[in-house]
Amino acid sequence: MDKCVINTTRLELVEGDITHEATDAIANAANCGLRGGGGVDGAIHNAGGPAIMAECRRIGRCETGDAVITGAGDLPAKHVIHTAGPVWHGGGKGEAKALASCYRRSLEVALENGLASIAFPSVSTGVYGYPLEEAAGVALSTVSDFLLEHEGLELVRFVLYDSRTYQAYSDALAELLA
Ligand code: APR
Repeated sequence: MDKCVINTTRLELVEGDITHEATDAIANAANCGLRGGGGVDGAIHNAGGPAIMAECRRIGRCETGDAVITGAGDLPAKHVIHTAGPVWHGGGKGEAKALASCYRRSLEVALENGLASIAFPSVSTGVYGYPLEEAAGVALSTVSDFLLEHEGLELVRFVLYDSRTYQAYSDALAELLA
């Protein structure tokens, strides 16, 4: 595990399965239609049960870079914050801006709902094809900038599913703190 404190918030990186997290919220790497899918989205809906999808249907849509909140069904977390990451098209289509917005909007939604802790997966680096090293840098610098400007969150934890993803985030955090 990697950890540090940014302003008043603990920032942690762990390798693992985000569906096991008992943080106030877990973020989901969703699609704009909130239709569910494979990857972490599939894992969250499978483990959380149909209540999450029922709420997603009522909400209907989440634009790329935005975030919406639902309950967490049978999951140990209390809420799921669904964020729609950008599809990678080579880097010239505003992908970095949209990915940064995913993390910022998710953190804003967490604060708006009075939550103290949130876990994130590596948004966009699976099916959506965002290069891992670049995505890790965007994720951590965006979260760090947000935490320097906002107090109220106790814990932000990145839950990275495999060792390659964990290592990329660990390297990006070391670079950020250097
Ligand atoms: N816990 C944490 N991370 C996970 C888990 C899990 N249980 N399962 C998968 N991951 C990781 C993947 O290994 C990858 O590093 O989440 C990261 C993001 O990959 P995807 O889930 O493919 O998300 P993304 O690239 O943002 O693509 C989103 O895929 O599933 C569909 O509906 C989703 O259309 C949307 C698209």
